[in-house]
Amino acid sequence: MRLLVTGGAGFIGSHFVRYTLGRYPDDSVLVLDKLTYAGNTRNLEDVRSDPRFHFVQGDIADAALVAGLMPDVDAVVNFAAETHVDRSLLDAAAFIETDVKGTWTLLEAARRQPGVRFLQVSTDEVYGSIAEGAFRETDPPDPSSPYSASKAGGDMMVGAYHVTYGLDTRITRGSNTYGPYQFPEKLIPLFITNALENRPLPLYGDGEQVRDWLHVEDHCRGIDTVLRHGAPGGVYNIGAGCERENRQVTRAILDLLDKSDSLIRHVADRPGHDRRYAVQTDRVEALGWRPEVSFEDGLRATVDWYVARRDWWEPLKSGEYEAYYRAMYGQRVPEA
Ligand code: NAD
Ligand code: DAU
Repeated sequence: MRLLVTGGAGFIGSHFVRYTLGRYPDDSVLVLDKLTYAGNTRNLEDVRSDPRFHFVQGDIADAALVAGLMPDVDAVVNFAAETHVDRSLLDAAAFIETDVKGTWTLLEAARRQPGVRFLQVSTDEVYGSIAEGAFRETDPPDPSSPYSASKAGGDMMVGAYHVTYGLDTRITRGSNTYGPYQFPEKLIPLFITNALENRPLPLYGDGEQVRDWLHVEDHCRGIDTVLRHGAPGGVYNIGAGCERENRQVTRAILDLLDKSDSLIRHVADRPGHDRRYAVQTDRVEALGWRPEVSFEDGLRATVDWYVARRDWWEPLKSGEYEAYYRAMYGQRVPEA
């Protein structure tokens, strides 16, 4: 299969590129990535010399560019997105541009290329918060943040292109993903790297919010399973069934690093903060997928990676990042 992987220089996308080239010797991968603050060609350093790997820097909302790439691919896997909820609270413009308009632009190019398969990498956040039980794929989107609303908009457009134009689409809705190469703005890499720098860990509200933690390799295997074995027009939740409160995750990180709980700062809650995410995963499991990495093993390996790879994350925590960090946390998190 010849894959167009958009957002392939980001966290999950780069793992997916590595996974695909490692598992399928006859496949090739063309990455299209804008290289926003979250995109990093260093995430792809170990596949760069593979002759089956190609890279184009560009925007999925660039209609002429994506139309030109489409004839050379059999499938599109769309990871490209603005992905951080907190940034969407500061300014949602880029979220609408990429997650809605960019997805639509890719769909327009794909529907004009007969036989192309289109997998949209979406999120469990589109369902909103759930106090008990777990969402099914048939439950309606009810997003809470500008980020999850923009992802839900992209999903709606994907569904419409399947119904209207018969495009072979699939949507995956993954839960909170963690592992190496995750930008240090999301909970786990932010807290690991802050702890390593002896900076405070800003825990929102009471810290009792629940997320279902999915290791990035399990997420990539799930996306691959749906890409190759899912039904056209299908929607598939991918979750590990591994629920943890944020305060539990925080303590686990501090324990692994042998750091004191005194680094924890309870700060003002995130506006519109979803209390709990949970999804039913029997559909993707019927295709043969199961999560394989326990949270304990996955978190330990992730902490070890950040300890070993200061060369990767230290340069990211400067420049634009410092401005973002001050805007996000400056007023509420005095430095230790
Ligand atoms: P990320 O923020 O690490 O990477 C996003 C990538 O997309 C970056 O390389 C960036 O440069 C690129 N990009 C952004 N705008 C672009 C544009 N207009 N054109 C081309 N490239 C562009 O994201 P991630 O955490 O790896 O998430 C990947 C996908 O998975 C997203 O669609 C996200 O919604 C979804 N998802 C993420 C999680 C999670 O916990 N991280 C969970 C479920 C689903
Ligand atoms: O559920 C899938 C989603 O998971 C993805 O679609 C998103 O792209 C991804 O960012 C993630 O969204 P969350 O908002 O759940 O992830 P985040 O890492 O930002 O936050 C996880 C939890 O930790 C959440 O309850 C907010 C809390 N948190 C986060 C940060 C960054 C804190 O308490 N303090 C923080 O500084």
